[in-house]
Amino acid sequence: MKILITGGAGYIGSHTIIEIIQNTNWEIISIDNYSNSSEEAYDRIEKITGKRVKYYNVDLKNLLATEKVFNENPDIKGIIHFAAFKAVGESVEQPLMYYDNNLNSLSNILKCQAKYDVPNIIFSSSCSVYGNVEELPVTENSKLRKSESPYAYTKQIGEVMVDNFIKVNEELKAISLRYFNPVGAHISGLNGESSTTKPNNLVPFITQTAIGKLEKLTVFGNDYDTKDGTCVRDYIHVSDIANAHVLALKYLIDGVVEKKHDIINLGTGVGVTVIEAINAFEKVSGEKLNYEIGNRREGDIAAIYANNDKAKETLAWESKYNLDDMMLSAWKWEKYQEENKF
Ligand code: WQD
Repeated sequence: MKILITGGAGYIGSHTIIEIIQNTNWEIISIDNYSNSSEEAYDRIEKITGKRVKYYNVDLKNLLATEKVFNENPDIKGIIHFAAFKAVGESVEQPLMYYDNNLNSLSNILKCQAKYDVPNIIFSSSCSVYGNVEELPVTENSKLRKSESPYAYTKQIGEVMVDNFIKVNEELKAISLRYFNPVGAHISGLNGESSTTKPNNLVPFITQTAIGKLEKLTVFGNDYDTKDGTCVRDYIHVSDIANAHVLALKYLIDGVVEKKHDIINLGTGVGVTVIEAINAFEKVSGEKLNYEIGNRREGDIAAIYANNDKAKETLAWESKYNLDDMMLSAWKWEKYQEENKF
């Protein structure tokens, strides 16, 4: 059975390809234009799995080029659509780049899904669709508030696009997976996040500060109404996220699907503060982190973490990795990149 992965050279996409190779006999086709990844990701996947996937360098905003992939690969049975820009801060500075890329890519993928009769799609969504939540933990039925960034808005719009599209395409089914904070790297230390842009997220900032690529980490505010004043997030290991994608696609293909478009949170259900994340890193790495407390970051919300009951009940999914595993795997990957001078 053929599966199409868009963004397959990216952080979550590459980890999901590894999980698919190691847990299914599906044939993988990957599309990536390396706007936030590199072709070397496929070498790393091969090093870990021994398998080379079939891949295309195509910009999904180009419908003709995208259709060519579907033409060359008939009988694709499922799509996992990762490809999107995802830096919250960058989206504030360059909103049209985000709306153009994230929405036109999704629109073209849905057009191809209908035209080439691909029955199943998994859409990569985000907990940022909840906005500045009040009640915690958030469930899939929690009210979606105003998005805090153009990035988050592209995910809110994306979910509605998928919903409207699935409703008028009788045979098609979808699941939108709302990721909380994906962090960490493959347990082998041979794959991880190697985005081409400067990191925006906490964990790469921690590991790059510890290895000396960055001089110090600034904690964006310690005056929030949380246990130590720093923001609370639901950090989840990237391989747990990847495993959930395999289970979600298996569910669409083999399962008794209750809803043509279902929405599922992917978080551990555990809220962790920035200071707790730093302390966990220092504990597992043995490194003392150079950090200071600075001002709040525009657009940050105080706290968000998931109720993940639906993922457990619908997908029989459980997160396997704890915060220490996340920090240690991220640290191993940072050192691997240093030793191999990425
Ligand atoms: C986490 C915490 C910062 C950097 C992410 C992704 C987004 C979405 C949701 C998937 C915040 C603090 C950070 C630093 C800091 N994921 N921080 N100093 O903002 O929760 O959003 O998860 O779709 O795509 O961006 O993650 O890692 O940027 O921040 O203090 O140098 O760490 O204030 O409290 P965020 P983040």
